[in-house]
Amino acid sequence: MIDKINNIRCSAVESADLQKSSEDIVVLAIESSCDETAAAVVRGGRHILSDIISSQIDIHKQFGGVVPEVASRRHLENINGVVERALSEAGLTHDDIDAIAVTACPGLVGALLIGVATAKALAYAWKKPLIAVHHIHGHVCANYIEHKELKPPFISMVVSGGHTSIVDVKDYNDLETLGSTRDDAVGEAYDKVARVLGLGYPGGPLIDRLAKSGDEYAVDFKRVYLEKDSLDFSFSGTKTGVLNYVNSRRQAGESYNKADLAASFQRAVLDVIVKKAVSAVKRKGYKRLALAGGVSANSRLRELMQDACDKENIELYFPSLRMCTDNAVMIGVAAYHLFMAGQMSDLWLDARANADFDVI
Ligand code: KG4
Ligand code: ZN
Repeated sequence: MIDKINNIRCSAVESADLQKSSEDIVVLAIESSCDETAAAVVRGGRHILSDIISSQIDIHKQFGGVVPEVASRRHLENINGVVERALSEAGLTHDDIDAIAVTACPGLVGALLIGVATAKALAYAWKKPLIAVHHIHGHVCANYIEHKELKPPFISMVVSGGHTSIVDVKDYNDLETLGSTRDDAVGEAYDKVARVLGLGYPGGPLIDRLAKSGDEYAVDFKRVYLEKDSLDFSFSGTKTGVLNYVNSRRQAGESYNKADLAASFQRAVLDVIVKKAVSAVKRKGYKRLALAGGVSANSRLRELMQDACDKENIELYFPSLRMCTDNAVMIGVAAYHLFMAGQMSDLWLDARANADFDVI
């Protein structure tokens, strides 16, 4: 059985048209790690031929966050249609595809499994190479789409609903985590604070908007830097500070200004993120920093990071707004670099809730 599966992998890889120039390599990518069912077709690691996202936000909104079991079931219902649309909007058939890429980790394991099973079935049926992509690698690669001049090495500050990580991007496929969150991810903290303020889900964009009319220094929330020189993060104390503030005001029957709270919370977490990201770039002796992940859409983060980078002569990059949050294009871009380096997966590929870059 193992031999049979490995043979499938080899024949699939051999069937890829190796005469094609790298500019013409076409990847069909699938992303289903959380609450977006997405598929995209990407040519030459940069050109978007299609970009389909079926969002489940409206379903999860009523629960104030993503319900994993509901997410998996929706992915299952949606995935075939999303993949078909990605191909038809690209104006291609499966014959034109050189490789199938899929997010294999990290994420909600039941959600990831739907994408992985679909990608494996397509790779087997169409005899195409299968490429497993680390979701965070995908977020980092979203920066290559519009920034042709961006090349490793650089530091990527990954800020999303599930992650807050400082990543050393040594090369296209060689990434190392220098620091990460020890508790809540920054997007998770945004979402929880938004919930307590009664703003809705997802909370990040709503806090971003509301904070524009608030005073960032109205309330002095904790900025947690951890041990000296640590590149790790901890946001649960700051988040709890907001919850305690709101609860104590409510109990005392006092009102509070939501915009001030949103702005003060945001400034507290962003100060820490900006300081640590810039410190990582300087420590490595690099000159470039790339934001990645859903929270990199945040307007205040972009402003504060730009100011800090200007002072240190660091070039700052961030993806377009659509490419900040989860999508399959970024998975296709990461897969292109893996494909060019011959880093294919086999049909034993499994979904993992958590894994480091070098595990898949
Ligand atoms: O990268 P992403 O789509 O999913 C994960 O991989 O987790 O990130 C989603 C997160 C959510 O927590 C959402 O509230 C946050 O990104 N987010 C924002 C903004 N837009 C999305 N947070 C702050 N400001 C924004 N403008
Ligand atoms: Zn993500």
